[in-house]
Amino acid sequence: MLDLTPDPSTLDPIEIASRDEIAALQVERLKWSLAHAYANVPHYRARFEAAGVHPDDLTSLDDLARFPFTRKSDLRDNYPFGLFAVPREKVARIHASSGTTGRPTVVGYTKADIANWASVMARSIRASGGRPGDMAHIAYGYGLFTGGLGAHYGAEALGCTVVPVSGGMTDRQVQLIQDFRPDIIMVTPSYMLAILDHFRGSGIDPRETSLKVGIFGAEPWTNAMRREIEAAFDMHAVDIYGLSEVMGPGVANECVETKDGLHIWEDHFYPEIVDPVTGTPLPDGELGELVFTSLTKEAFPVVRYRTGDLTRLMPGTARSMRRMEKVTGRSDDMIILRGVNVFPTQIEEQILRLEALAPHYLIELHREGRLDTMTVHVECRADLFDAGAREAAAHRLCAAVKNTVGISIVTRVVDPGAIERSVGKAKRVIDHRPRD
Ligand code: DLL
Repeated sequence: MLDLTPDPSTLDPIEIASRDEIAALQVERLKWSLAHAYANVPHYRARFEAAGVHPDDLTSLDDLARFPFTRKSDLRDNYPFGLFAVPREKVARIHASSGTTGRPTVVGYTKADIANWASVMARSIRASGGRPGDMAHIAYGYGLFTGGLGAHYGAEALGCTVVPVSGGMTDRQVQLIQDFRPDIIMVTPSYMLAILDHFRGSGIDPRETSLKVGIFGAEPWTNAMRREIEAAFDMHAVDIYGLSEVMGPGVANECVETKDGLHIWEDHFYPEIVDPVTGTPLPDGELGELVFTSLTKEAFPVVRYRTGDLTRLMPGTARSMRRMEKVTGRSDDMIILRGVNVFPTQIEEQILRLEALAPHYLIELHREGRLDTMTVHVECRADLFDAGAREAAAHRLCAAVKNTVGISIVTRVVDPGAIERSVGKAKRVIDHRPRD
């Protein structure tokens, strides 16, 4: 794979500033952001007053812990525009996430917010190995989802040639990659696997494409999946993180030269890790729930937003800004099976260790009598037709999951193509257990 390390002179100076400089900027911006939320959003004013705090109480970063959390339910309760901090006419764009239950969560951006978003997204693409003049094929969905337009504005801001394909019509994705010869692809990792199938199905060697780097996010994916995609396409696979409540894609991104976790763009988004149960802030290095406070957002400031995503904070490496470990999953995705906590990514990791199995899987949960059971449906590789070999692979997966995760599962090895492909975020788990 090519060395795509960016020239240090092309980085934003704050990316390689000292920790003191970053902290000073954060305190200054936090003061502004808290005062802005307090002055312009009745919800924040009421919450701060109920907690007995005022924006003037923040004089250091540690003081932030005195301020109340914001949760997804606060967005729903203030649907649609109740948390906006500017008059609606100043809102240049709205995005929303459908949410599986209840009302969608709605977020807004001023023109300045969109410019900041484009700049952190451009920074993310550059960290991934992208350069001005590169061609970027964007297969994240365009629309209310932040993926497509977020990536689009960032790629334009960096100076790329943008191909706004959006998700779906996989044959056409393959054709455009062949005909236009893009350098960069931006897409969910699960949809990239669907695109890979189509390459192979059309008899085209995916290693022969023009792609140099894929920027994958919007759902959890493992380092094992990274190796799979990198080997299949002979390109770099880099992780991008974000969420609509905080901005969209481009809150944090890996650096292509290190691929050791995602640098959080801390000049715009202040991260904390808290105990998911008690809400107590945890020191860097400890695993907990990621919480963000926006530092520059005008239309939709968020104060201590509980993301539900589990990770840990680590010191900077390729950049001075802190890194977050690859997200293992959201607290809502955690499966509790007979008292053991399991994330789908843990199963994915074991599947990808086995040569006979392909990275397409679906987990089903049932309750039989009083016992919860997990069935993992997983595809075999294209050339594995032998029933005995499939049986052996199923046994090996069961044993590996038992040894590493500590649970007994049932494995069903299915034909290549039998598991439904996703166009955006993959659905990995179907829970048939009665809700009690
Ligand atoms: O998924 C924004 C995005 C678009 C990020 C494109 C990256 C690329 P939402 O639909 O609001 O926004 O979903 C946000 O998706 O809280 C995580 O649970 C999950 N997520 C996003 N990126 C990653 C990632 C977009 N790299 C939710 N790894 C977040 C793991 C991720 N989970």
